[in-house]
Amino acid sequence: MPVNCIPAAKTLRVHAGLLLFASSFERTDEVMGFYNDHIEPALVSCACGMKAITRERAKIVPFAKGVVLEIGFGSGHNAPHYDQQAITHLYALEPSAAWRKKALKRIGNLTVPLEWLDLPGEEIPLSDASVDTVLVTYALCTIPGVEAALEGMRRVLKPGGKLVFLEHGLAPDAGVAKWQGRVNGVWGKLAGGCRLNRDPVALIRAAGFDIEKLDQHYAPGAPKIAGFMTGGVAAR
Ligand SMILES: C[S@@+](CC[C@H](N)C(=O)[O-])C[C@H]1O[C@@H](n2cnc3c(N)ncnc32)[C@H](O)[C@@H]1O
Repeated sequence: MPVNCIPAAKTLRVHAGLLLFASSFERTDEVMGFYNDHIEPALVSCACGMKAITRERAKIVPFAKGVVLEIGFGSGHNAPHYDQQAITHLYALEPSAAWRKKALKRIGNLTVPLEWLDLPGEEIPLSDASVDTVLVTYALCTIPGVEAALEGMRRVLKPGGKLVFLEHGLAPDAGVAKWQGRVNGVWGKLAGGCRLNRDPVALIRAAGFDIEKLDQHYAPGAPKIAGFMTGGVAAR
C-alpha cells in the first residue's frame, strides 16, 4: 500500500463523510464542484493504486503495442506497466483536467511520445483505422455513453488491431450482485459516476469485438462488490 494511500474501506468512509459534509452547505453546486474536481479524483486515484489493482495491471497492460490509445488515462497508473519497447506512440485520452494534472507525476519516466486528447471517450478525435491498440482500464464502468465509446474504439482500430481491457463489474454470485445493485447509486455519487454492475464482457461483445483472451476472478484483497475483475484482449 503506498504510504500516501489509505485502505479501500477507510477511503469509502472518508468519501461518504466528505460528501455529506459538502451537501450540507447552502452553495451545494460550488462545493460539489470542488468535491468532483479535487477530492474525488484524489480518492479514486488512491483506490486505483491499491496493490491488488496494480497486480492486475501488470498482467494486462503489456499487451499494448504499436500506436496505442488509452481511454480514460486517469492519473496514469498504467504508465509504469507499458512495454515501452513495443509502443511507437501513446494517445492519452482523458476529459478531466484534474485527472490529467494528477497524471503528470507518473508520465515523467515514459520515453514514448505521449499526446493528450482532452475529449470524452464518446468523441475520440482520431481517424478511422489509425491505432494498433486501444487500452481501457477501470473506465468502461464510468463512461456515461459506454456503447458509443466502444463503437468509437472499434472505429479507430486498424484491421487486426486489439482492444486490451481491464475492468471491474457485475459479479457472478447472486449475493454479491444484489449488493452491487443496492449500493450502485451511492457508489456512483462517491466515485465519479462509476457503476458497480456493468458487464464489460457483454458490452465489448455487443460492440462487435471478438474476445480472444479472457480472465475473470475476484481480486484478492479487494472488496467483492468492486473486486470482480475482467481482463483480456479482443480483436476488432
Ligand atoms: C476510475 S478512473 C480510472 C482511471 C484509469 N483508467 C485507471 O485505470 O487508473 C475512471 C476514469 O474515467 C474517466 N472518464 C470519465 N468519463 C469519461 C468519458 N466520458 N470518457 C473517457 N474517460 C472518462 C475519468 O476522468 C477517470 O479518469
